[in-house]
Amino acid sequence: MEKPGLFDVKISDISSTMLITLYCRALESRSRNPIINDPEAVRIADTINSRLAGSGERLYRDLAQGKLDKKLTTFISLRARRFDDYARAFLSGNPGGTVVNMGCGLDTRFWRIDDGKMSFYDLDLPEVIEIKRKLCREAGRYHMIASSVLDYNWLSLLKNETGGPVLFLAEGLVMYLEKKDVRELVLKLQSSFPGSELVCEVVNESVAHGWLKAAMNMRLQRQLHLGRGAMFLSGIRDGREIESWSPGIRLIDEWSYFDSSEKRLGPARFIGAIPWMRRVQWTVHYKLG
Ligand SMILES: C[S@@+](CC[C@H](N)C(=O)[O-])C[C@H]1O[C@@H](n2cnc3c(N)ncnc32)[C@H](O)[C@@H]1O
Repeated sequence: MEKPGLFDVKISDISSTMLITLYCRALESRSRNPIINDPEAVRIADTINSRLAGSGERLYRDLAQGKLDKKLTTFISLRARRFDDYARAFLSGNPGGTVVNMGCGLDTRFWRIDDGKMSFYDLDLPEVIEIKRKLCREAGRYHMIASSVLDYNWLSLLKNETGGPVLFLAEGLVMYLEKKDVRELVLKLQSSFPGSELVCEVVNESVAHGWLKAAMNMRLQRQLHLGRGAMFLSGIRDGREIESWSPGIRLIDEWSYFDSSEKRLGPARFIGAIPWMRRVQWTVHYKLG
């Protein structure tokens, strides 16, 4: 389903989710004691705010007025900070390495983590990159790739530019893809860049197909006012499942929102004591050997 879009570029329901995460980081950055400090997110939100305010879309108008669930802002900020930390740790072990931010949306990680040596690629669907190019400038070690992550030509192009080591990030992406596509993507990353790493947020199968599916979709559509096209399509049983897709894949670690001692999670922190709740939506980190 198409939405009216930004700068006369139509945006699909799935891509509209990038505005929510952008505004979460921008609002958080403006708060006292922010979990994440993201001046570029603030700049972009300020730049597009009047366009969203005049939109026919309820989601866009809510964002422009700063109407965002506080818990969601906390969760998204914790996730972005954790992904930043994964990237920094990778770059400290692999100076001058390459980071590929798949399904980047309007994320501004390059400016948050740049160490002056790395190469950084932001990849998203062509309409998203068309918008992002109006808001951010490609230069030097920062590049954008306008492609579906599932159109694998981008991997050949990347291979021409870097031999590795590469860290692939997928923050809020793979749950919107079919499982067979996620499997194929992971295997392509592995065969194109053996020895690379993948950090990927996933949801449990029960969220994509089981008893939690209705609750999750209701949250996406009724609470966040996203269109019907924004739906979780795939999940995994546990972090070991992706290891079983190929002998060289090794699970390095997993991270749950509840691993954070952030006080603003409030009573939600205690949910982390229930093991399966830690694996409803969480992050997995692999070596693709
Ligand atoms: C929830 S947003 C996350 C954006 C960003 N990672 C962040 O945390 O702010 C999901 C993003 O995945 C992108 N996306 C969805 N399907 C895609 C695909 N097949 N190829 C590339 N990007 C895709 C959407 O356009 C959107 O920008």
